[in-house]
Amino acid sequence: MDRIELNGGGCYKGELVPPPDKSISHRAVFFSCLAKGKSTIRNFLRAGDTLSTVSAFRSLGIDIEDRGDELVILGKGIHGLREPHTVIDCGNSGTTMRLLSGIAAGNPFFSVLTGDDSLRTRPMQRVIAPLRQMGAEILGRDGDRYPPLAIKGRKLRAIRYSLPVASAQVKSAILLAGLYSDGETEVTEPLRSRDHTERMLPSFGARIKVEGLRITVHGGDELYGRDTTVPGDFSSAAFFIVAALLVKGSEVTVKAVGINPSRTGLLGVLGRMGGEVVMENIREVSGETVADISCKGGKGLRAVDVTREEMPLLIDEFPILCVAASQAEGLTSIHGAEELRVKESDRIKAMTSELKKMGVEIEEYPDGVSIKGRTLLKGAKVESYGDHRVAMSLAVAGLVAEGTTAIHNASCVNISFPRFFEEVKRLACHA
Ligand code: S3P
Repeated sequence: MDRIELNGGGCYKGELVPPPDKSISHRAVFFSCLAKGKSTIRNFLRAGDTLSTVSAFRSLGIDIEDRGDELVILGKGIHGLREPHTVIDCGNSGTTMRLLSGIAAGNPFFSVLTGDDSLRTRPMQRVIAPLRQMGAEILGRDGDRYPPLAIKGRKLRAIRYSLPVASAQVKSAILLAGLYSDGETEVTEPLRSRDHTERMLPSFGARIKVEGLRITVHGGDELYGRDTTVPGDFSSAAFFIVAALLVKGSEVTVKAVGINPSRTGLLGVLGRMGGEVVMENIREVSGETVADISCKGGKGLRAVDVTREEMPLLIDEFPILCVAASQAEGLTSIHGAEELRVKESDRIKAMTSELKKMGVEIEEYPDGVSIKGRTLLKGAKVESYGDHRVAMSLAVAGLVAEGTTAIHNASCVNISFPRFFEEVKRLACHA
């Protein structure tokens, strides 16, 4: 299904159980594989990125039994990994590569991490620099800028590190490396990024302290297996939340979705735009808060300014926010988003060029975009650039548009939301 066609003009009604959270699924596998004993992960995301993490740990000698949406992992403790026999392929997954580099740095063996064409162009200096300060030997292609990474790990030194960019992947890599050091490793973020690592690691036995933007991990402690249930992924739910708000006559409820505030910045922005979202049945699942989110379409949206401070809290929602902005009255400006240039694709460039094809007045800046709404979108032939979130955002634009939108390279939705197009079809109604 490398080319998908969608028609505008319908509406979307019903309930959706979004796929399990990708970030939390990765972390549940990482921590379970480093823990002593048995761990079970329920509602695990079976998708491209998280399966890259599973196969990486299998090549590090960990027994992972895949029972469909449940994984059973028999960990051997933080020192229980073995040297991989071959290069580890992290596929499209930045989370797999960056978090794994932190672990490889602390293990006394040689490993090489690589990935697909997209991952091999993503910046790795941001993990190489702190891991070297901790004492690891770690090299990357093109002057240590890009993968493949070659890592010779060893016992590490604890460091105090200020992250130059807000990045949960880099923060997590350093915290994981900190488990292999003597003493306390401290990471300070410039802005708060998603906090799943520091939330979940203590439940496996790690000693972690969070004081404002500073997170400290105590090195040398053993982790112990436990059961985790993964909540629904807000970043996947976001496509249907925005689709429901934009398409008249729609009414969608997304069930059991994670509403961790470090992930749901989009809801604040949609609220300022005038989009009504109701949260019900708020409860706790494995240390994360989940809720059912309902939204109704048809009310007009207004333009807003999205600030640099908000970006880390909606980092993965930039593409779908651009689609929402195209339907908001006035000029929406999004700044401080330069990190979007180094995601699975250059998302600023991708959304600018593809939404232009659909008739949107969008201007590209080095650190974001401005979008003049409201535009009557026109169906067009568009390109995903192999980026799952670009593909799904363009699909939502296609649902709003007049006529037919053809998305080229659409199978990349398998990275985080394999049933995305089936769910679009299932919820479609014809008003
Ligand atoms: C992720 C962190 C974010 C996000 C990515 C997943 C994670 O990246 O964009 O999709 O699971 O830690 P950065 O940490 O690079 O901002």
